[in-house]
Amino acid sequence: MTPITEPVQHAAERVTDAWSALPSWLPVPGLGALPVNSFLLKGTEPMLVDTGLGALAGPLVDSLRAEIDPEDLRWIWLSHTDADHIGNLDRILQIAPNATVVTNFLGAGKMGMLGVGDPARLRLLAPGEVFEVGGRRMHQVRPPYYDAPETMGFFDETDRVFFAADAFGALLPGSVDRIDEIPAGELADGLVAWSSVDAPWLAQMDRGALGRILRALDALGPAHVLSGHLPVAQRLDTLTGIVGRAYGRGTTEAVTPETAAQVEAILA
Ligand SMILES: [Fe+2]
Repeated sequence: MTPITEPVQHAAERVTDAWSALPSWLPVPGLGALPVNSFLLKGTEPMLVDTGLGALAGPLVDSLRAEIDPEDLRWIWLSHTDADHIGNLDRILQIAPNATVVTNFLGAGKMGMLGVGDPARLRLLAPGEVFEVGGRRMHQVRPPYYDAPETMGFFDETDRVFFAADAFGALLPGSVDRIDEIPAGELADGLVAWSSVDAPWLAQMDRGALGRILRALDALGPAHVLSGHLPVAQRLDTLTGIVGRAYGRGTTEAVTPETAAQVEAILA
């Protein structure tokens, strides 16, 4: 793994004939490096999934142009409206005049408050609606953990691709090109560290409920797992196993039941 001191865009990576990853890495001082990924679906209706870091606008656009003509881009699926996912939204809307943003009611409202995007270029998905794009059926999937309530993951029936948004992200010691370059222990530590930062309520979640969600996802049996914050993975069960073991114990070294500790401190 390569330690990084500034944001860096890596070369696009083929996932399937239709799907590519556009990976970048963000240094997190004191904690390591966080992958920040966009993804691209090619075909008759090309779709970009998330728009990366504003600090990497030029390199991300170059990566996109190397894959397709931005004028052909038809859709931009936003997982949620955090800065690391909409960092180049306005820039890409400018160079992709035929693209429409796919989000939901809450996502649209938050974009309005942030003053990003274009209200005339929105396709709002209803809860549970199956989105058909280029002959594919994209099923909305709520990830097991997330940090913004508008978060929309999906499952692409055709290529059995599961997009998990922020879930299954990992804080790592440095950047890599492929997930198999990450030692197993570093992957497990990174998954727990990231989830405890991004979704600290996991430590307070009912263990049975979390286990049921993780087992339900395993039953999807995706061939490819796309997380906004992890190199492309093939084995979802490895990731759910690590998360399930970490939080199944109720607490981990990285996570404390914060509310209980706060109340104890107040009453002490
Ligand atoms: Fe994120």
